Amino acid sequence: MTRVFSGIKPTGHLTLGNYLGAMRRWADVDQHRADALFCVVDLHALTVDHDPARVRRLTRQSASLLLAAGLDPRLCTVFVQSHVDEHTRLSYALECVAGDGEARRMIQYKEKAVRERERGGGVRLSLLTYPVLMAADILAYGTDEVPVGDDQTQHVELARDLAVRFNQRYGHTFTVPRATRPAVAARVMNLREPAAKMGKSDDSGPGIVYLLDEPDTVRGKIMRAVTDSGQEVVHDPAGRPGVANLLEILAACVGGEPAALAGSYDSYGALKKDTAEAVVETLRPLRERHRELCADPGHVDAVLREGAERARAMARPRVDAAYRALGLLEPVADPVVNAAR
Ligand code: TRP
Repeated sequence: MTRVFSGIKPTGHLTLGNYLGAMRRWADVDQHRADALFCVVDLHALTVDHDPARVRRLTRQSASLLLAAGLDPRLCTVFVQSHVDEHTRLSYALECVAGDGEARRMIQYKEKAVRERERGGGVRLSLLTYPVLMAADILAYGTDEVPVGDDQTQHVELARDLAVRFNQRYGHTFTVPRATRPAVAARVMNLREPAAKMGKSDDSGPGIVYLLDEPDTVRGKIMRAVTDSGQEVVHDPAGRPGVANLLEILAACVGGEPAALAGSYDSYGALKKDTAEAVVETLRPLRERHRELCADPGHVDAVLREGAERARAMARPRVDAAYRALGLLEPVADPVVNAAR
C-alpha cells in the first residue's frame, strides 16, 4: 500500500487554509486509500524564537483539530514528532549525508534567517538543519508520497536527493519519496492581502479565518475581506484576486466551480454573505467535535500514545538499518546472546 506522510507545525492556530488546502483531503481521501501518517512536528516549531507554553498548547490543539477534522486513528496514524526518537536519530545520520551548501540554498531558510536577524535574535542552527529533520520525518517511514504545499516542494526534493545519495553510498535503505499536490486543493489566500497565502504563522488576525474562530468572528472577517474595484462578480484571479479568493472559498465549501458560481451573484455583498455562511457551516461540525475532544483529554492522550507506538515500530527497523549501513557498531542487548557468538 502507498505510504503517505505529512506534517503540520504547531507554530500558530490552524486556519481555513490548512483545512481546505490539506486536512480535509487527508481525512476524506488519503487515510482511506493509503497507509497514512500525520504528524504534529513540534521539533520543527523550535527552530525559531518560541514560547514553550505556546508550543505545548498548540501541539495539543493541532492534534485535536486533526482528529476533529476527521482523521480516524483506526485508519491512519496521528502522532507527535517528539514522541518518536527515530526522527532525531535519523536526522543526525542524514546530516552526515547532506552538504552545508545544500541546506544554505533552501529558500525558506534564507527567508526565515533574514526575518530572525531583523527581529534582533540570532539564527538557530536548527533552522539550517530544519530540512534535514524533515527529510528524516519522511524517510524513516519508507514514505512514497508527501502531500504538501508549493512552499515545501524544495524540502521534499532535498529528501529525495538524500535518499538517493544514501542508497548509492551505503546500500539500499530508503524509499525515494515524492511531493504530491492534490488536483483540486483550494488555495486559500489572506482575506486582506489576496496575493499572500492564508498562513497560520503570520498570526495577524483580520485576513485569516482560524478553525476555532467563533461564527460571528468568521462572518466579520469575510464581510470585511478586500474586494477589488469594479462591481461585477467574475472569477479572474489575476485581475481580481480578492473576489476570486472568495469564489474559491465558496466553491471549496459548497462544491462546484468558482467561475460558474460567479454567475449567480450580482454584487460583492451577496457573495460575501453566502461565503461567510458556507464557511460557518463547513466549520461547524469540526468545532463541535473539537469541543467534545477538549472535554475528554484522556482520549486525545491515548490516541497520541498509540500513534507514537505505531510510528516507532514502523520507523525503528529502517533507522537501525541506516545506522548499521553507516558503520555504527550495533549495540548488543542480551549478554547471553553475546556469549554464544
Ligand atoms: N515543513 C513543513 C511545513 O512547514 C512541515 C513538515 C515537517 C512536514 N516535516 C514534514 C511536511 C514532513 C511534510 C512531511 O509545512
